[in-house]
Amino acid sequence: FEVPVAINEPVKSYAPGSPEREEVLNSYKELYNSKINVPIYINGEKIETGNTKPMSPPHDHQHILGEYHLAEKSHIDSAISTALEARKKWSKMPWEHRAAIFLKAAELIQGPYRSKINAATMLAQSKNIFQAEIDAACELIDFLRFNVQYMSEIYAEQPESSSAAWNRVEYRPLEGFVYAITPFNFTAIAGNLPASAALMGNVVVWKPSDSQVYSAKVIMDVFEEAGVPAGVINMVMGDPVMITDTVLANPDFAGIHFTGSTHVFKDIWAKIGANIHNYKTYPRIVGETGGKDFIVAHHTANPQQVSTAIARGAFEFQGQKCSAASRIYVAKSIWPEVKDSLLADIKSFKMGSPEDMSNFITAVIHEASFDKLAKYIDQAKSDENAEIIAGGNYDKTKGYFVEPTVILTTDPKYTTMETELFGPVVTIYVYEDEKWSETLKLVDGTSEYALTGAVLATDRYAITEATDVLQNAAGNFYINDKCTGAVVGQQPFGGARASGTNDKAGSALNLLRWASPRLIKETFV
Ligand code: ALA
Repeated sequence: FEVPVAINEPVKSYAPGSPEREEVLNSYKELYNSKINVPIYINGEKIETGNTKPMSPPHDHQHILGEYHLAEKSHIDSAISTALEARKKWSKMPWEHRAAIFLKAAELIQGPYRSKINAATMLAQSKNIFQAEIDAACELIDFLRFNVQYMSEIYAEQPESSSAAWNRVEYRPLEGFVYAITPFNFTAIAGNLPASAALMGNVVVWKPSDSQVYSAKVIMDVFEEAGVPAGVINMVMGDPVMITDTVLANPDFAGIHFTGSTHVFKDIWAKIGANIHNYKTYPRIVGETGGKDFIVAHHTANPQQVSTAIARGAFEFQGQKCSAASRIYVAKSIWPEVKDSLLADIKSFKMGSPEDMSNFITAVIHEASFDKLAKYIDQAKSDENAEIIAGGNYDKTKGYFVEPTVILTTDPKYTTMETELFGPVVTIYVYEDEKWSETLKLVDGTSEYALTGAVLATDRYAITEATDVLQNAAGNFYINDKCTGAVVGQQPFGGARASGTNDKAGSALNLLRWASPRLIKETFV
């Protein structure tokens, strides 16, 4: 039989006066005023450990949304043992039933949980409603639906047989458990990393980001209501080093599904290496890490399109996307027009709390991020080779607000052309039109990362040259577009170099990492 063909979930408009706008604002107010207690989830039980931390919205950091409970080492051990117990039945469950559970999870988010998961994302991660809708509702629904379709296609992929022997491949889950570590910046990624491994028949210990616990709870509630059995996905918060060390010390650790920072991923990889003799199976290591994503504009590009690509690529989602545009190279002859249009766009951006739906820019995630951005902005104010041409102000009195900021530099290797900032700060370098080929080499050689990038040009030779020279500079390469906004089912997402293992989230390639195929040859004797 065939599973339903996946289609992308339509994005709702949240226009003034629309029912969805009213509904999400009501959910927002309700969640804002109710003190939510987030337990850890082990074997279907919600455990309040009593050791708690408070949660606050980044745009209103004095307001307490509630608290979440922290696991001890013994909880991690029990999450692992209950997962392994759950594996006995889950790994044998016919895949159609796993598919049905996760398709139901998609339906729950599409319908009854939509306003709640969006409101939780607006509160916990300070996203405006349009960002929350694209992330927490549509992208998460898309991951669930498309992965079910890809899973069915993987299982259908079988080798040739003959009249004398039947060859078949059984796509077994990994032998052990999978560890998922998820970031604050996408509710969809938080849901997808544990769900995609579980969909393929694996059991999971999941550690969400401390800054995303509020929406992670909604995801766990959805999984539970959809029928994910107890113990299949266990969610634990707490000291990240303790959790990771406990997980990696376990001989049944079979794989990690990670999105987060490059240095944490490298540390984890090194620890896995140090433990390699203890494991029953070689662990699968799948990670999506940092980015220093570029836009390079040729002198034949349309200046208006270039400025839109920069404004949207750099400042949507407060620049807190691993794909966000953060180093820009513009040809000198189009720069004056690009600049005028970009500054006008930035002037039109309103900044403030997400409950005011006219705000385009909201707060950055936490004080550490705010302080880092402020430090680089201040440095640019005093550096000779840098000039701030838009923004440059920040204020953390009520929330962690950083104005959308443009740094113009005369040095293509200026510190903010190289360092990942993860916020609404973009750096632009203007090059001489005739130095196109040298500029492409600069783009390739300036960053250790290789996640996303974009070229804008109308000259086809310029486009082909960029596509060739930048072959390894981005896992997602965009021609005449911004470098953000990959859609599940359309642009599988991921990068190489220091940006990750490039196992494209939302694709069959990714799901295959969660399977350990067994070939069975049966000879007819
Ligand atoms: N998938 C997200 C994007 O492409 C991160 O912007």
